[in-house]
Amino acid sequence: MPAAMNYRHIYHAGNFADIAKHIGLLYCLDALKRKDSPFFAMDTHAGRGFYDMQAAEVHKSGEAERGIQLLIEKGLGIAVLAEYFGAIRGRRGKRLARYPGSPALIADALRPGDRGLFVELMPAEARAAERELESVGRVRTEIGDGYAALKAYLPPDERRGLVLIDPPYESIDELKAMVHAFSEAYLRWPTGTYLMWYPIRSATQRNMVHHRFEGLRIPKILYADIAIHPDDAGVGLAGSGLMIVNPPFGADEYLQKAYTAIHGVIAAPGAGYVDVARLTPERMAK
Ligand SMILES: C[S@@+](CC[C@H](N)C(=O)[O-])C[C@H]1O[C@@H](n2cnc3c(N)ncnc32)[C@H](O)[C@@H]1O
Repeated sequence: MPAAMNYRHIYHAGNFADIAKHIGLLYCLDALKRKDSPFFAMDTHAGRGFYDMQAAEVHKSGEAERGIQLLIEKGLGIAVLAEYFGAIRGRRGKRLARYPGSPALIADALRPGDRGLFVELMPAEARAAERELESVGRVRTEIGDGYAALKAYLPPDERRGLVLIDPPYESIDELKAMVHAFSEAYLRWPTGTYLMWYPIRSATQRNMVHHRFEGLRIPKILYADIAIHPDDAGVGLAGSGLMIVNPPFGADEYLQKAYTAIHGVIAAPGAGYVDVARLTPERMAK
């Protein structure tokens, strides 16, 4: 049973890490729509549907102000980000009133016949998601543990789709739990696309995350890392990382361009980096 939780995503909604993660998610959803056959999208740590940008928690942390509000103010004309701005309904000269969480982005991307499953441990968040989500596809929200849901619902009947695993990293064992749950899910469904988010706090810790995934000896893993602060800045979160297993064609180039654009607007001059590359090859050597 998961430990008791204090994490509340409202403090972080719309920060640079949310932006980076959602850009990767939207690219993969778009790629699934290149084919007509229905797909399945599962969000194991879904949160709510939308985050109110006027909420006291948002003002208190200031993360959205330095993240999505800044990006809209300064970066709205950047062509490579056009689809992202469309998905979050970013408009020129307007502050964003609500920021969509991953389940809202998924729900919005589904077509009739596609299916979304959102799993969230906190009942209040899950109920908010249930109330707020609208989709022409079939959507379902479940209160429960996202890792257990991977066991219960994979592989999906559709046999194509993606899984987003976006835990809060409140516990020091979270990475271990995520890698373990993913490796079991991959055995059951090796052709799905998996997106897994991780925080970047230092160079050593980032290397450790990469090593963990490399050790699984699973082919076709892309990592997309963006840092906006120097590693030793003493801020909680220097950067945001995304592991994408079975990434769609074009993801490497797109994320490199999109992250470079975001970095140019959001990072302090000269701070941080963008690093998008393959962690493992198309085929593993025997
Ligand atoms: C980083 S937030 C999710 C943000 C969301 N995926 C997005 O991009 O908008 C992590 C969420 O996981 C939830 N959570 C924590 N432990 C969980 C678990 N074991 N299973 C499912 N959800 C969990 C938290 O309540 C929180 O809402």
